[in-house]
Amino acid sequence: MQEHLLPYALGGGAVRAVIAFGRDLTELKRHELELAEKLAALQASEALKSAIVDHALVALISADAQGHIVEFNPSAEAMFGQRRAEVVGRPVSEILLPERFRGLHDQGLQRLAAGEPPRVLGKRMEELQALRADGSEFPIEMVLWRSDVEGHVFYTASIVDLTEKRNAAQEIERQREALRQSEKLSAMGSLLAGVAHELNNPLAIVMGRATLLESKCADGALRADAHRIRAAAERCGRIVRTFLDMARQKPVHRRNVRINDMVRGAVDLLQYNLRTAGVDVELRLAEGLPEALADADQLGQVVLNLLVNAQQALSDTPRPRRVLIETGLEPLRETRAPRVWLRVADNGPGVSDEHRPHIFSSFFTTKSAGVGTGLGLSVSRSVVREHGGDLWLEPRSPLGGASFRMSVPLSPSPPVPEPAPLPDEADGPVLRVLVVDDEGELASLMREILEAAQFDVATAESGAVALELLAEARFDAIVSDLRMPDMDGAALWREVRERHPALARRMVFVTGDTLSPAAAEFLRETGCATLEKPFPPQDLVARVRALLPAA
Ligand SMILES: Nc1ncnc2c1ncn2[C@@H]1O[C@H](COP(=O)(O)OP(=O)(O)OP(=O)(O)O)[C@@H](O)[C@H]1O
Ligand SMILES: [Mg+2]
Repeated sequence: MQEHLLPYALGGGAVRAVIAFGRDLTELKRHELELAEKLAALQASEALKSAIVDHALVALISADAQGHIVEFNPSAEAMFGQRRAEVVGRPVSEILLPERFRGLHDQGLQRLAAGEPPRVLGKRMEELQALRADGSEFPIEMVLWRSDVEGHVFYTASIVDLTEKRNAAQEIERQREALRQSEKLSAMGSLLAGVAHELNNPLAIVMGRATLLESKCADGALRADAHRIRAAAERCGRIVRTFLDMARQKPVHRRNVRINDMVRGAVDLLQYNLRTAGVDVELRLAEGLPEALADADQLGQVVLNLLVNAQQALSDTPRPRRVLIETGLEPLRETRAPRVWLRVADNGPGVSDEHRPHIFSSFFTTKSAGVGTGLGLSVSRSVVREHGGDLWLEPRSPLGGASFRMSVPLSPSPPVPEPAPLPDEADGPVLRVLVVDDEGELASLMREILEAAQFDVATAESGAVALELLAEARFDAIVSDLRMPDMDGAALWREVRERHPALARRMVFVTGDTLSPAAAEFLRETGCATLEKPFPPQDLVARVRALLPAA
């Protein structure tokens, strides 16, 4: 209630009366209160909205009907690399769209202004490209809506950056592709491993017979022919072995490995591809290198990877296309144990400075899909590092292209197997060897090889026959196939250990294929000597001799 009092006096005389005015303010107060409440509500809603807009993970951008930016939230600033203060008032198309889309965008705005029903409003639009401040483009997803405020039209877009999603999808696709490739390879691998295994016995026979022929031939020309046959068979043997080594899926098995042999195996395996690709391979392998302690399969793979890379790099190089493989012994350093090294160099285009830092990363490849997965070098490097060595790209190549070098620690000097003492009667001049193999050709080949080395040899076509012979006569060593019908090599060994314990330590097992886990376990546990088929004759003789005290 508002009150007002007015004195009433006539002609400046005494006050005769007081006039009182009263005004009911209830309505006014109520209005005021309502207004204040509305204002507070508005402020609250503003604060809430700006909290939402300012902290939204998506970019929110509003523009007026002419396409000029009026709002640009912090996420938009981060996504587009633009400052709000610098973009407000400027045309959306000029700042956020790649040039080629600007015309389309402006036409769309004109159509909306002309009252055409909006087709894009409220819909999720994917596959759009946006522009960052630095000029780079990126994929976005966007929803656009319209608001009418006091006769003015505004468009607001909420935008999600799809870069990471795209990259992740591509990564998954790449990995799937790699998996498909490796599944294909492993299926082919097991098929071919079976074939390769079947080749081992006949190959061993060709190799062995050719060697015997060579030693028997008095005629120089014939001997040279026999030598050629043997060399070719040895090459086949290396191919089969390298291949089987690759196909085998077996736990890491480190043993003494001759790096030069590994190189020859890999080159033989790729010989055909290299030749048809017009690539000349030059080997400069150091003589008398000490052995390395390594898993031959894994390191062989590394050499293969390097060779395949070199061959692929040379495909566009004019002839001569050259690959140089060198091996050597690192000079002794105070800081670390000596190592053997291997270099694979080519005269291809080399690796650009830009690519150098990346070539050892998984999935980095400059080759088209289907040619390269970008795994070769990264897998190779981790394999070599697991061996305590290293693999790197050299700053310069002796041939002008790329040059990769690997180094691996040497094997600690191999433990010399303690030969079991021979029984007294063995002091005679002739040592007797029992050869056990179900493949007759192979048994008789081994017999001839050992006889040529002055051993007295008997053969048995099965474990049972072997036991009979052992019961009847004295033998100083046994050479046995590992995989035989009925009684296999392991079973024979157990029987021999029961009946002739000393002889059990003088057995060599001839293996020719993917070892079954049980067989591998058996050989590891017993530490028996092994000889892989196909073998050069001198290796057979050397294995047998190693079991016997110097005769
Ligand atoms: N000898 C070389 N000369 C030139 N560039 C090479 C050579 N070796 C490798 N590179 C480069 O290094 C990249 C990675 O090689 P890496 O062996 O890891 O993968 P890839 O050969 O592309 O594919 P993958 O080996 O999986 O089939 C190659 O794509 C190539 O760009
Ligand atoms: Mg490669």
